[in-house]
This record gives sequence, structure tokens and C-alpha cells, in this order.
Amino acid sequence: MGEIPLAKNILNSLYTYNNPKLERELFGLKFKNPIGLAAGFDKDARLIDELACLGFGFIEIGTLTPKPQTGNDKPRLFRLPEDEALINRMGFNNEGVLASVERLKKRKSTIIVGGNMGKNKTTPNDKAVDDYNYCFETLYPYVDYFVVNVSSPNTPGLRALQEKEPLRNLMLHVKRLSAQKNKPKPILLKIAPDLTQSQLDDIIEILLSTKTDGVIATNTTISREHLSASVETISNIGDGGLSGRPLGKKSTEVISYLRSKLGKNYPIIGAGGIMSPEDAIEKIDAGANLIQVYTGFIYEGPALARRICKRFISRH
Ligand SMILES: Cc1cc2nc3c(=O)[nH]c(=O)nc-3n(C[C@H](O)[C@H](O)[C@H](O)COP(=O)(O)O)c2cc1C
Repeated sequence: MGEIPLAKNILNSLYTYNNPKLERELFGLKFKNPIGLAAGFDKDARLIDELACLGFGFIEIGTLTPKPQTGNDKPRLFRLPEDEALINRMGFNNEGVLASVERLKKRKSTIIVGGNMGKNKTTPNDKAVDDYNYCFETLYPYVDYFVVNVSSPNTPGLRALQEKEPLRNLMLHVKRLSAQKNKPKPILLKIAPDLTQSQLDDIIEILLSTKTDGVIATNTTISREHLSASVETISNIGDGGLSGRPLGKKSTEVISYLRSKLGKNYPIIGAGGIMSPEDAIEKIDAGANLIQVYTGFIYEGPALARRICKRFISRH
């Protein structure tokens, strides 16, 4: 379908909503609108040209790792329809960063693409910097911004990289790589919703002192609060990150806190439980400059970005 220009035109006319009032400029990039597709949906950059017709202002690929890896055993993705939620323990299944680069070389759409980077499961944390280094260098010519992902709950030990010293080293390293380029590109950090206030304070200090260009709040949660599914259903599913409606309030709280501490100009991308235009407005009002959806896109379908765009315009 992606090969047929007519099909793309039809998709565009059905799902895209253009209006200069939706445009945003953040960390030096010009976004056609503030609604993005969050990481994990198009991990291997297979669908950028098709997804670009569905009204998004930007698409984040990944999480990519240096080497291909199969991820966790199936089943690893579970629906909780009564909660409009998902639980996943995919475990960074991806074909490796080089496979994505080959596809990015062929993409036709000019939509802004972010490259979300992680480490291989077999890479110990004290070597993690090497994995992010490799992903950055490999992806550099082909994406518009980068995300350091240290917040997935499905790679054992990964979230320990959110601790103060490992995180400072990692962000300094990736920022330095970017600064060495003729045209440095924005480096963002994606954080978990499960941090304590003092962990968040440490992260805020690191974002500012390393001149990290922005923050994505948040990834999925390991909490199982605010669910109507039975305890038995939840325990049968087991480990994984919870996304969708039950995550919304928590991620909004994290965004509000970040905004209050980071000042009014620091770039924040809000994600977590945006299922409707009203949820999107809540994230913007909490302080997000841009937003991303994943679970809402699954439950609400391809018109979600357009519906949010229209609501943003009617609000003004
Ligand atoms: C199936 C699935 C896979 C995901 N994979 C990734 C990933 O590879 N990297 C990442 O940073 N976030 C990943 N996420 C998290 C989303 O990007 C997003 O931060 C989170 O789901 C909260 O948004 P939502 O409530 O709109 O889904 C994944 C989420 C889901 C549901």
C-alpha cells in the first residue's frame, strides 16, 4: 500500500490535519504538529512512510540496540480492554540498528524521526555506554533527534542506569559525541514514571548540568494500581510495563513536577495514557511541549492524532 501514491494521498486526506497554529519549534526542530508516535510501535523503522500519513508530527523509532535480539518469549503483550491498558514485556526485540539504517536510507517522507537507543540484554551495565555510543554513531545521519532510553522495565538492570553517577556519565558521553559533529543533534532522556522524588531531583540536576536537550516523561510503569482487571488476571500476566489509561495520572504528575523544577523553557515531551484529546490537553496544561501516544493509538485507531489536532485548534 505504501508503494501506491494514491493510497497515501487518501490516507493523508483522511487522517492529517494541517494548520499553522499547530506548528511547534523545539530544540531547533520544526514540528508540523505536537503529536508524535511513541517508541516501540515502529521499532525497526518499517512503517515510517505509512505512519507519516496518519497525522503525526513526529515518529520515534526503536528502541534499537547494536546487535539484533529476539526479545522475551511470547506471549509478551497483553490487553486489558476494560482498563484501556496494555502490559508488555517485549524486551527490546529489534533487528539491530544497522537494519533500521538501511530502511531509513530509503524513506521518502520528511516527517521528523527520533532514534530511541538502548543496550543489548547481554551487555553489562558497566559497558552500556559503548552500546549507546554505537547506536548514536550508526544512526546519526538518519534521524533528527536521539533518545537515551534507560527506563524500560523489560531489560534486566537497565533502569539502574537512571541512578545518579551512571546517568551523568552516559548523558555526558552522548552529548559529547553529538557536540563533536558539525551539526549537533538534540539528545533527550526518557524516564520511568516510578522514580521517587529524590531520584527525580537527581535526574533534573543531571538534565541541566549535562545540557541534555529535553526529557520524555514517561515510559511504562511497573505499578499495577488503578486497574479494574481482577488480581488473578493481573498475576497470571506477570511482569511487564503497564501503559494506557491507568498510567495517565502518574505521568501527568511527573510532567508537572519536571516543569516546576526545570523552568518554563525546558523541552518536555509528555507520554503516558493519552487516550483522547482531553488527555492530550491535560498533558499540555501540565507543561508538556509535545506529546506522544502508543496505547491510545491501539485502542482508538488511526484517527487519534487528527482528533487531537482538531481539538487543539478549537480550543484556541
Ligand atoms: C508494546 C509496547 C512496546 C514499547 N516499546 C518501547 C520501546 O522499545 N522503547 C521505549 O522507549 N518505549 C517503549 N514503549 C513505551 C511507550 O513508548 C510509551 O512511553 C508508554 O507506552 C506510555 O505511553 P502510552 O500510555 O500512550 O502507551 C512501549 C510500549 C508498549 C505498549
